[in-house]
Amino acid sequence: MCGIVGYIGPKDCVPILLEGLARVEYRGYDSTGIAIVSSGTIKVHKKKGKLREMEATLPKRLFAKIGIGHTRWATHGEPSDANAHPHLDTSGHLALIHNGIIENATELRASLEAQGIVFRSETDTEVLVHLLSLAEPGDLEDRLRAVLALVVGTYGIAVIDANQPDRIVVARNGSPVIIGIGDKEMFVASDVSAIVRHTQQVIHLEDGEMAVVQAGGYRTMAVDPSAGGVVSDPSARMITINWSVGALDKGPYAHFLQKEIHEQPAAVERALRGRIDDRHATAHLGGVTLSAREVLDIRRIKVLGCGSAYYAGMLGAGMLESMTRIPSDAESASEFRYRNPVIERDVLYIAVSQSGETIDTLMAVQEVKRKGGRVLGIVNVVGSTIARECDGIYLHAGPEVSVASTKVFTSTAVAFALLGLYLGRIRDLGPADGKRIIEGLKALPGKLEEALATEEQMAQIAKKYAHTSSMFYIGRGLGYPIALEGAQKLKEVSYVHAEAYQASELKHGPIALVSPDFPTVVVLPDDHLAEKNISSIQQVRARKGPVIAVVQKAITEGLADDLVLVPKSEPELDPIILNLPLQLLAYHAALELGRDVDQPRNLAKSVTVE
Ligand code: AGP
Repeated sequence: MCGIVGYIGPKDCVPILLEGLARVEYRGYDSTGIAIVSSGTIKVHKKKGKLREMEATLPKRLFAKIGIGHTRWATHGEPSDANAHPHLDTSGHLALIHNGIIENATELRASLEAQGIVFRSETDTEVLVHLLSLAEPGDLEDRLRAVLALVVGTYGIAVIDANQPDRIVVARNGSPVIIGIGDKEMFVASDVSAIVRHTQQVIHLEDGEMAVVQAGGYRTMAVDPSAGGVVSDPSARMITINWSVGALDKGPYAHFLQKEIHEQPAAVERALRGRIDDRHATAHLGGVTLSAREVLDIRRIKVLGCGSAYYAGMLGAGMLESMTRIPSDAESASEFRYRNPVIERDVLYIAVSQSGETIDTLMAVQEVKRKGGRVLGIVNVVGSTIARECDGIYLHAGPEVSVASTKVFTSTAVAFALLGLYLGRIRDLGPADGKRIIEGLKALPGKLEEALATEEQMAQIAKKYAHTSSMFYIGRGLGYPIALEGAQKLKEVSYVHAEAYQASELKHGPIALVSPDFPTVVVLPDDHLAEKNISSIQQVRARKGPVIAVVQKAITEGLADDLVLVPKSEPELDPIILNLPLQLLAYHAALELGRDVDQPRNLAKSVTVE
């Protein structure tokens, strides 16, 4: 989704803005732009398309010590040069960028037009900058505050004024804004990736908070002080981002997707670090503050998330139920938040989110909390909104740049295994089972390495099937969320239609689609349902459907057209291993079809608007 970056300080801001925008490209966008203050005037350069297309239009000599930049993902108005941010007021003194949606933009626009303002774009954002130009004279922050009092909607805003070139003013309501603290220089961004090369010290603004950012420092204030003010001491909120410098580069890999698939063994090691208690055969999870007594009171677990986070949550719910014997299920946060859910005090809610910013998941968390429920978060991005809303577990997977989530799916499953250990050892999981799962977790990175060794085979399979128009992914039990995730990965990055089914459901309808041109991927753990899965394969084969079986032990020769063998672990952890060849299949199918692997069409990394 949209990205914000800004700089104020002694250096030339142009390369800093361009590099920052390149770092948030992964979030998905369709136009870019920058605004700088140079020789007392604002200069804007913006263009539809990729960042490099806007960069190509920049004059050779461009220098400024203050500027803001934006990547836009169209909501109001198609992707175009005119709709790209920054937006200027009529005088050209003010430039503003905005993430989010202004819900009363239509009425505000009509009233501005009635006052003679001529709009240059179709965006909701442009109303903000014109309102600002009409606000009572005063400091930029006072004028912005007056404007925000008129606005209904969500925003992360950064604005500069040629008449007050010593400050960037930012404000947040529902869309992330981060202040980066440097040495006599300051940064603003919507995502730490944009600025982490320059500073690791950041502060996340709270909803309803704004800030004046100057080269020598910053001050924050409530957008609406009459509402009781929200602003806690921002310095107490300062966090250090400890990403390694290489985390944002592709290294030897062709794409971030391939890199992140291969990072999974290391990501799992990081997720486990310091969290295993061999002595008591349990897990230590610093962010999970439930007492043993509270754990005993849990009657049900409900996991919430969107997209791959939902599928990881579905897998996690299955793992939790089998490890804790507490009835557990998962629901898509995007549906949950709108159905006036009944919240019960003895239900533990768990929100799963890589970015920690997905609006549907955040709203679901707030709905649960508002009704008195207890929510844990399983989140990757440190300091993100969902992470700050709840106690929980950080994944420590490092930045996930590719739009398609891979390593975070795996790390999330590992976090669920740790949570299952912790809750289970208070409930029904005996020490022998605790030890068994711990040994399984310790051996997991090595087994994932072995599963990654299927890459060449998966590349061949991708060549064979990438040009097909549709595929099935089937699985049962904990294999079903893996089938869902496998199908989702293929759709996202290769645009090949894929549908996931519970293998048991195939014969109740969908098998009608099976034909020699309709391949089926079977997720086949070596478990008590293996024989049942094998009969599903036989049903597909009897209709001459090609079968790709991802298995943990060889099955009858000739039963599958392609047999992909991965190592076996513990039953609770096996699905994690079975998922990796499916990620590789999606990646290589996308390569085969020449797709934009890391930034697939129409997708955004974190969906922060409705
Ligand atoms: C994953 O490949 C997707 N791009 C998408 O489904 C994603 O998992 C979903 O939007 C949730 O994102 P989050 O984990 O950042 O909340």
